[in-house]
Amino acid sequence: MSHARTPAVATIDGPSGSGKGTISRLIARRIGWHLLDSGALYRLVALAGVRSGTAPDDQERHARIALGMRVVFGWGPDGGEQVCLEGEDVTAAIRSETAGQGASRVAAWPQVRAALLERQRGFAAPPGLVADGRDMGTVVFPGAALKIFLTATPEERALRRHKQLKDKGSDVSLPALSRGIAERDLRDRTREVAPLRPASDACVIDSTAITVEQVVGQVLEMGAARRLWQL
Ligand code: C5P
Repeated sequence: MSHARTPAVATIDGPSGSGKGTISRLIARRIGWHLLDSGALYRLVALAGVRSGTAPDDQERHARIALGMRVVFGWGPDGGEQVCLEGEDVTAAIRSETAGQGASRVAAWPQVRAALLERQRGFAAPPGLVADGRDMGTVVFPGAALKIFLTATPEERALRRHKQLKDKGSDVSLPALSRGIAERDLRDRTREVAPLRPASDACVIDSTAITVEQVVGQVLEMGAARRLWQL
């Protein structure tokens, strides 16, 4: 009798601007694994809440949105990543700083987190999953074979986010962005459910003074050492 094996999972957690989105994408592409951008799900709940006129403090309705929203992660006509909510392309809309702040607010609610739990676990599929977020290694995939916690100084993270938003044509001032990131960090680290923190068995990588390629190299080495993939 054969038993279905749980697909392998590598988790990459860390605060906003630590580079986990970029690193996770590069690694998933390099090893041919699926990718879960869990932050996008929280951003989608916040956006769907605004679009449906849900009261900003109505946790229960936001949890229902989290359970029922129709989301498709795919590719757009230009070959870039595309996120659709109820059939509508919301790729740019969910990346704004406002959506990030909204996400951090709804993400503090236990009912919303519970509603997204199984949805997130559903992304695990052969040959494997790279899961990017805040609680991937602590709550969603506690049995993951490789757990990375990526950090960088708050100054460096604000600079990175600033560059990222400017490249997308968004005009946010650096001081305002720094304040926003500090607020979001504080809320993410101090909330009662699934606060942002490294899992006890996570490998912490400080990316402040090293390049994206160096971080990717380190993570690939760690996975290869655990025989998750070959280099
Ligand atoms: O990673 P990203 O910046 O897209 O996440 C947006 C917000 O969603 C975070 O500030 C955090 O509050 C929340 N989040 C979370 N748990 C995750 C991923 C994101 O609480 N696994």
